[in-house]
Amino acid sequence: MLSSLFFTTVASIFGLVLSQSIYGSDNATFTNPILQKYGADPWVVRNGDDYLMTYTTNDNITILRSRTLTDWNSADVKLAFKAPENTSYTFSNWAPELHYYEAFQKWYIIYTADVDPDSPSPQQDMLCDFNCPAVNHRMFVLESSGPDPWTSEFTMKAELNTYDQFAIDGTYFQYDNKLYHIYSCWYDYDSQPFIRSWPAMLCITQMSDPWTVSSPQSERLIISKPEQPWEKTPYGRTVNDRLSSNEGPQQLINPNTKQNFVIYSAARSDNRNYCLGLIELTGTNPMDINSWTKNNASCVFYENDAEQVYGVGHASFVQSPDDSQWWIVYHGMRDYLVGWSARQIRAQQFTWDEKTGWPVFPRPGIGPYPVPSGQ
Ligand SMILES: *[C@@H]1O[C@H](CO)[C@@H](O)[C@H](O)[C@H]1NC(C)=O
Ligand SMILES: *[C@@H]1O[C@H](CO)[C@@H](O)[C@H](O)[C@H]1NC(C)=O
Ligand SMILES: *[C@@H]1O[C@H](CO)[C@@H](O)[C@H](O)[C@H]1NC(C)=O
Ligand SMILES: *[C@@H]1O[C@H](CO)[C@@H](O)[C@H](O)[C@H]1NC(C)=O
Repeated sequence: MLSSLFFTTVASIFGLVLSQSIYGSDNATFTNPILQKYGADPWVVRNGDDYLMTYTTNDNITILRSRTLTDWNSADVKLAFKAPENTSYTFSNWAPELHYYEAFQKWYIIYTADVDPDSPSPQQDMLCDFNCPAVNHRMFVLESSGPDPWTSEFTMKAELNTYDQFAIDGTYFQYDNKLYHIYSCWYDYDSQPFIRSWPAMLCITQMSDPWTVSSPQSERLIISKPEQPWEKTPYGRTVNDRLSSNEGPQQLINPNTKQNFVIYSAARSDNRNYCLGLIELTGTNPMDINSWTKNNASCVFYENDAEQVYGVGHASFVQSPDDSQWWIVYHGMRDYLVGWSARQIRAQQFTWDEKTGWPVFPRPGIGPYPVPSGQ
């Protein structure tokens, strides 16, 4: 059985009382991006006085360490994992996330990988209704050798069971002392021949520990499909849903009301329309579709033409050093004609709506903005 300690996150372990960081205290403002080089799919977590960041490097799993949330240019760099050749996880290492679980006193890196560089077999390719590389992406979990993520070695713990189907951008969702896997999954089409293909949706399964999915395939639940016009690209497209998607899910909990949200990315990651959507757990059973309420109305965070910030998405959430503020760390691009390689990592403060309890995200921008409180 899982103890409640199991779900204690690193933020509460260390207490994180830090009035004034030794670095960065002379700088009152920062500008985006927070890492000058290009990067996508950022995940940031606090560990004592440090912030740790992982992001997509494609060829390996890299951890950055910084005292400041808003400047990663001189961050310490650790190579956490480099897959050997010829494994089921050698290629396309995407969207790593670093989570600490007190029950095991270990860190887990959940991430996407592929057996080949996006080259499905002719048989699989034939059955896609659109050209569908990425068919072989699956979810994997690395485990640290000890409680210190910086000195630990990380080794392959398990492939997460996604029923041998497309899976990317998986994350952990914790609720009522239970653990779930929420990830981006594919549609099944009842066509002749049967096909499984784009667009990508969000699926949830239950887990018995951070590396084991316990739900049988029959219980896998789809919690969101890219059905709204703003989840498609171009906006409102009615044919060929290949460029529609729901991906990059992240749990976000309102610290005051304890409302649980899944903030996810919608539309398509290589162009200006990529944005964040919101789903709220309004019931008490994450494995029941009636427990989820999706905000169909619009994106909750989207491009800002006035500041030349486009294609914003794949966010993670973290508090300021003094715990008083909430920050969103996301990727966005300036030159949206370039596509994926134009993505850069950015950060901004966000707040909470007192009436609805929803997060209130700012318009994405360049700044300068005040640095996080306590930095
Ligand atoms: C502080 O400002 C200096 C000079 O403008 C800059 O080089 C440095 O990156 C800044 N540090 C932070 C933490 O923003
Ligand atoms: C990880 O992969 C990236 C992308 O190929 C590369 O630039 C970086 O040097 C690698 N990191 C290490 C520590 O080898
Ligand atoms: C790759 O792995 C497969 C299955 O384990 C094995 O049969 C094959 O010989 C390996 N190829 C290389 C080049 O290591
Ligand atoms: C959002 O749209 C979906 C699909 O059309 C629908 O099933 C769901 O009830 C809608 N949710 C709300 C809150 O209106």
